[in-house]
Amino acid sequence: MLLEVRDLHVEFRTRDGVAHAVNGVGCHVDAGRTLAVLGESGSGKSVTAQAVMGILDTPPGRITGGQILFQGRDLLTLKGEERRRVRGSAMAMIFQDALSALNPVMTVGDQLGEMFVVHRGMSKKAARAKAVGLMDRVRIPAAAQRARDYPHQFSGGMRQRVMIAMALALEPALVIADEPTTALDVTVQAQIMDLLAELRREYRMGLILITHDLGVVADVADRIAVMYAGRIVESAPVHDLYKAPAHPYTRGLLDSVPRLDQKGRELYAIKGLPPNLTRIPSGCSFHPRCPMARDMCRTEVPPLYEVSDERGSACHFWRECLHG
Ligand SMILES: Nc1ncnc2c1ncn2[C@@H]1O[C@H](COP(=O)(O)OP(=O)(O)OP(=O)(O)O)[C@@H](O)[C@H]1O
Ligand code: SF4
Ligand SMILES: [Mg+2]
Repeated sequence: MLLEVRDLHVEFRTRDGVAHAVNGVGCHVDAGRTLAVLGESGSGKSVTAQAVMGILDTPPGRITGGQILFQGRDLLTLKGEERRRVRGSAMAMIFQDALSALNPVMTVGDQLGEMFVVHRGMSKKAARAKAVGLMDRVRIPAAAQRARDYPHQFSGGMRQRVMIAMALALEPALVIADEPTTALDVTVQAQIMDLLAELRREYRMGLILITHDLGVVADVADRIAVMYAGRIVESAPVHDLYKAPAHPYTRGLLDSVPRLDQKGRELYAIKGLPPNLTRIPSGCSFHPRCPMARDMCRTEVPPLYEVSDERGSACHFWRECLHG
């Protein structure tokens, strides 16, 4: 197993009190596989990713428990230099906003090249050639020429390709893409997703794809983890989850996506809003919004029930949901 997160907890100290952003997340990713992480805004997707990457905003954020096992070693117990080494070259992250992630006053070729100079000790000239090769690999037309341009001279889609090239430069074992296509228009989104899927196969890297768009994950992910209020409420192979969700929240998400095979169907919206993380509801945190909620849901926190070998649901009534 490439990455295994166990019982991760992250808190933020805010003026309102302690926000419990991540409350016992567990998930895993194998080499060459894609895990999609799905959930509404504020559910803790990015904070989980930041904790794994070691870029959590501390303070106000703090990891208060859990393990992050990467290639068998707990990253939370590694010290200084060793931790930086693992995170600097074996893991990489792709952000939503390429313009703010790239250096505005350095040409794209120099930024890419610098990765090879710093981490691989290459000469400037060799690094330059590698940079152009990478730009070519992510299909930026006229790569040799474009390497001399600055980030703002690229379109949104091309800039995202540059960031993908940066992420892949050191051939990391794990890439985390946090809403990599949200800022792009629909056709460009599809191209970037296809590119990511192809590179993931070619490099045999593990990919965590964070998104709130169920539409994009069906084709590219192997597994899906659905997050709600800092917990994973359902975890399943993509096709199982699409066929029949085992959690009412997943059902709500699926029913709120337009589907080609069900034209004319009314779109559903999950009622209410995600909870305030300083005051998470008792019992099942989804109960105030859940159409299936009963008395027990208000008092008893559902564990992640085993639905099958490969599948879990944090709903007391998952059987009903699955077959209903
Ligand atoms: N820098 C911060 N300071 C204080 N609280 C924070 C900070 N970053 C995150 N949080 C808290 O953690 C919660 C989860 O944030 P996170 O960014 O993980 O959500 P998300 O699932 O990625 O949402 P989105 O889909 O909008 O990106 C937030 O609602 C907020 O309460
Ligand atoms: S445990 Fe209860 S409230 Fe929570 S999702 Fe299941 S039915 Fe709904
Ligand atoms: Mg986010």
